[in-house]
Amino acid sequence: MKTTLSVIKADVGSVAGHTKPHPRQLEMAEEKLKDAKKQRILKSFYVTHCGDDIELIMTHDRGVDDSEIHELAFKTFSEITEKVSKPMKLYGAGQDLLLDTFSGNIKGMGPGVAEMEFEERRSDPVAVFMADKTEPGAWNLPLFKMFADPFNTAGLIIDPALHEGFKYTILDVMKNRSVVLSCPEEMYDLLALIGEPSRYVIKQIHRKSDGLISAVASTTRLSLIAGRYVGKDDPVAIVRAQHGLPAMGEVLEAFAYPHLVAGWMRGSHYGPLMPVGLRHSMVSRFDGPPRVICLGFQVSNGELIGPEDLFDDVAFDESRRIANELAYHMRRQGPFMPHRLGPEEMEYTTLPGILKKLEGRFVQE
Ligand code: 13P
Ligand code: 13P
Ligand code: MG
Ligand code: MG
Repeated sequence: MKTTLSVIKADVGSVAGHTKPHPRQLEMAEEKLKDAKKQRILKSFYVTHCGDDIELIMTHDRGVDDSEIHELAFKTFSEITEKVSKPMKLYGAGQDLLLDTFSGNIKGMGPGVAEMEFEERRSDPVAVFMADKTEPGAWNLPLFKMFADPFNTAGLIIDPALHEGFKYTILDVMKNRSVVLSCPEEMYDLLALIGEPSRYVIKQIHRKSDGLISAVASTTRLSLIAGRYVGKDDPVAIVRAQHGLPAMGEVLEAFAYPHLVAGWMRGSHYGPLMPVGLRHSMVSRFDGPPRVICLGFQVSNGELIGPEDLFDDVAFDESRRIANELAYHMRRQGPFMPHRLGPEEMEYTTLPGILKKLEGRFVQE
């Protein structure tokens, strides 16, 4: 029998700015999912948060895009908004709920979704990545490293099961179309696209030899749905590991050097993505720098065993130190590009309002 792992997340408000949820919000999510488990909608679940985003990690046997699961997540986030965030006047109450009537699928309504259905292997370790103060394209570089870069993943060279490579499904978020590229032979084509992470986003990765689903990522772009700035689309991703896939250590290694991602203050600045344990996922400095956490589980007959807080390891201290150093370097540039995002991306912020005001004062030279 197949198991579905669904990770659905939303920012529905936080305490003292865009920091972290109030414990009562997380408790309510727990209560709602516990009920759903009692009613046998869910097999297992884990509620957590990365910064100000609440993540519902759920297993069931209903497949991906199941309307009951999506409705459960939607109702959970709506109820938290109405019963906790709004009465407490939390900051950004209901921020990611752009529509208020559920119509069968939570995708396109604001919350981020990463789901995969699979036949459980003899042992199925999975990593759930969650980031705050960045966007789905932030996964492009690490997902490339994990499944295509032999300098990151030794298994691509030395394990026959990985040696054939992987197929990447890339979504063009501007035109809502996708393309499948095969690695290693189309690696340069792949990089030509995913090197522009604001537009081309890795959606799924499959093992080439047998089509095994290996990774999925959320691809929501809130601003493209809403047509205005509503916070960044803090993304989630699920990666399966070991036994014919990258080992968990190879999966995590992809985050050892904190690459620069779009997000941070007002979703308008580049900054390093810092890998941290859950207890350090709350951002403070300039609403950042952007964070990534990773919870590791075993999926066993639909049960989630774990989690392990995988970046809560002294081996990542140096990554964090480098991230802080890069953060100082980037901050020194204040409002100047390339700390500030380029004009195409600033279009989806509040900057166009300022530029419009100046329009009438320009004179022809
Ligand atoms: P598997 O091929 O069993 O995943 O072993 C690889 C490994 O664990 C190396 O760290
Ligand atoms: P979030 O997308 O995490 O809510 O952050 C929004 C923001 O503007 C931070 O400065
Ligand atoms: Mg927020
Ligand atoms: Mg957030």
